Amino acid sequence: MSTDQIVSRRRFLASVSGAGVGLLVGVPGARAEEKDDEEVVTASEDLMREHGIIRRALLVYTEVARRARKAPKTVLLPSLGEAAKLFREFAEDYHERALEEAYIFPVVRKVQGRVAQLPDVLLAQHRRGREITDYVQGLASKRTLSPADAERLATSLDAFIRMYGPHAAFEDTEVFPAWKVALGGRAYAEMGEQFEEIEYKTFGRDGFDDALARIKRIEEAFGLADLAALTAPPPPR
Ligand SMILES: [Fe+2]
Ligand SMILES: [Fe+2]
Repeated sequence: MSTDQIVSRRRFLASVSGAGVGLLVGVPGARAEEKDDEEVVTASEDLMREHGIIRRALLVYTEVARRARKAPKTVLLPSLGEAAKLFREFAEDYHERALEEAYIFPVVRKVQGRVAQLPDVLLAQHRRGREITDYVQGLASKRTLSPADAERLATSLDAFIRMYGPHAAFEDTEVFPAWKVALGGRAYAEMGEQFEEIEYKTFGRDGFDDALARIKRIEEAFGLADLAALTAPPPPR
């Protein structure tokens, strides 16, 4: 059982022994009801964790854009294709379409205040993102990248990264909190369960763990697997 699986799944936590749960949540001897609280993955936590996978895919796209400009031959087209496929299946078809567009945007559109205007913008960005994913998948299926294609790919990925970082940040900080408040405690708690069911129905297994394993493989292919290597150098003196 990997650490990833341990930290990520409520279902797994529910299946292990009480002593194990105490260790896992760092509260040895915790009472049963306290453990139950720790086991719950709320709807917003689910969504924000999915944004984590998406941010890691954007990191891969950042590296692809850098290589496309500097040395197009070093862009690993099959691995880029895997990244775009993950983005299509996990971010676009599942996170965006099955969760945000189906359950969150319709509720947030009806709340008071400026946040109600965000779903229209976010939906337009989902659609633009899908166009870009189509384009990236088309290029990734080629055998080589021409210099002209490499430059256009870099420009398109830069724009996508610039759009999607703020997109996810606005959702995390404004849209999901407004949705949570609008739903109220019980309905919000039930959404966590419903999202879990949709995840199973969509992927036939644990979608998050699967996506995490996939992005890790892609990061390794692009030399991005070592987080420490991304630590910034000290500033100039
Ligand atoms: Fe979104
Ligand atoms: Fe999102």
